[in-house]
Amino acid sequence: MEKTLAIIKPDATKRNIIGEIISIIENSKFKVIRLSSMILTESKAKELYDIHSSKPFFDALIEYMTSGMIVAIVLEKDNAVKEFRDLIGDTNPDNAKDGTIRKKFALNQSNNSIHGSDSNENAIKEINLIFN
Ligand code: RTP
Ligand code: MG
Repeated sequence: MEKTLAIIKPDATKRNIIGEIISIIENSKFKVIRLSSMILTESKAKELYDIHSSKPFFDALIEYMTSGMIVAIVLEKDNAVKEFRDLIGDTNPDNAKDGTIRKKFALNQSNNSIHGSDSNENAIKEINLIFN
C-alpha cells in the first residue's frame, strides 16, 4: 500500500485542531501507521523544504516550521500521495476547494496548517528524515 507523510503545522497545533484534522484524515480512509509530535530542528526543516532554499519565503518558512510543535503522521492508502494532496487542497486557502483541510483551517498561504508529500520519492525521503 502507498505511503505519504502528513505534517500538522505549528499554526494548527497552536489552535488545538490536531484532533479535528486527524478525524478528517481518518474519515477519508487513510490509515495512520506512525504518528509523533515534535519540534522540528532547523536542520530538519531546511532539509524538508530544501527545494525552496532559493525562494524569497524560505527564511520565513523555516522560522514558522520551527516555531512550535508539529505532528508528523505516516499515512497509508491506495494512491496515498495524490489522494492526500487532493484532501489538503491548494497551498493558498483562497484557491483551495471546499471540503479540503486548507480551505477549512489554513490562515493564509504561509500558515496553511498541513503538509503533504508531493511524490512517492519525496514521501520516502521525508518519512526517513522525520522518523529516523
Ligand atoms: P507543503 O510542501 O507544505 O505540503 O506545501 P505545498 O506543496 O502546497 O507548497 P510549496 O510550494 O511546497 O510551499 C511549501 C510551504 O511554504 C510556505 N509558503 N509560503 N509566502 C509564500 O508565498 C509561501 N509560499 C509557500 C507554505 O507553508 C507552503 O505550504
Ligand atoms: Mg510542497
